[in-house]
Amino acid sequence: MTLIDETPPDAAKLEQFVFRAVDEVGATLNAALVVMGDRLGLYRALAGAGLVTSGELAARTGTAERYVREWLNAQAAGGFVTYHPGEGAYSLPPEQAVAFCDENSPAYLPGLFQNALGSVLDSPRITDAARSGAGFGWHEHNHHVHEGCERFFRPGYNANLVDSWLPALDGVVAKLQRGARVADVGCGHGASAVLMARAFPDSTFVGSDYHARSIETAHRRAEQAGVGDRVRFEVEPAAAYTGEGYDLVTMFDCLHDMGDPVGAARHVLDTLAPDGTWMIVEPAAGDRVEDNLNPIGRAYYGFSTLLCTPASLSQDVGLALGAQAGEARLRELVTAAGFTRFRRAAETPFNLVLEARP
Ligand SMILES: C[S@@+](CC[C@H](N)C(=O)[O-])C[C@H]1O[C@@H](n2cnc3c(N)ncnc32)[C@H](O)[C@@H]1O
Repeated sequence: MTLIDETPPDAAKLEQFVFRAVDEVGATLNAALVVMGDRLGLYRALAGAGLVTSGELAARTGTAERYVREWLNAQAAGGFVTYHPGEGAYSLPPEQAVAFCDENSPAYLPGLFQNALGSVLDSPRITDAARSGAGFGWHEHNHHVHEGCERFFRPGYNANLVDSWLPALDGVVAKLQRGARVADVGCGHGASAVLMARAFPDSTFVGSDYHARSIETAHRRAEQAGVGDRVRFEVEPAAAYTGEGYDLVTMFDCLHDMGDPVGAARHVLDTLAPDGTWMIVEPAAGDRVEDNLNPIGRAYYGFSTLLCTPASLSQDVGLALGAQAGEARLRELVTAAGFTRFRRAAETPFNLVLEARP
């Protein structure tokens, strides 16, 4: 289909678009500036400190004033920090203090920016892959992607997993309280497995991921949390994790990253107890492209272009569901693998929580 718009460009609209694009350039640079502020402790030193000059902030964080002043002005121009011209000083609004300093808040943002920065850093290699159609595996990315992903997802899991997502599944919490066997597949740094293990001391957990370095980190996280005796981790792809008769299999934000999600779904069916449950947490998305043309869809399509789609294409089958597959497509896939029951159990602005049963 060819549709050529022959209307000449409107000069005012063009100017408007250029100014909008300048704001986008500021936002792109801000991913690096937020990670910088996080790493140098600038947000933490500003939080709750009232009015602070660039010199005071530099002194408190052991950094160079000239860099800090420029960073503060960029933050003020973007509305992340407030500038007080009368005093020549800056302050961090309380909402931004939560968003940048409270690791336990679901609004905690540094991980999201770190993940975005990591994705951008690897974008030249993704650009090359887009020419040939080659994939680019999760394991090939720089550490900001892996660390940023954990830091972004963990607060959301802390806020929702035990209190609302698991209770939304039919009969699962009672089983976990009695003592259930759980497989957390594609577990990355293990945030979800560790959280569930802390909440349900009579249950046992097997976390798996094909990425060996993530599994090393997951081991450490479980030891640090004191649940190492009940959480075992293994380096295995989703189609081959060990064990059977699981009461619950979980996949957090990883099904769409897999090359062969149908093959993975068949393995889940083979390893679940007859009345077991598969919980699939996927990025929130509508079923049609036009449903996702909003800020969250934009961020997810961006991550999907740079991370999720290349990850899937790097594996056998290379189905490349993308991070905005939507519930209808996921239902198709899960039922094609042989599951007979499928429903949306819960949702947040960022996630769909789906329940599949044999
Ligand atoms: C976006 S990360 C999510 C990690 C973790 N579930 C979390 O919520 O923090 C996607 C994960 O899927 C894993 N993954 C991708 N393909 C996989 C496969 N075929 N088998 C097992 N893990 C896979 C990646 O290694 C990565 O850890």
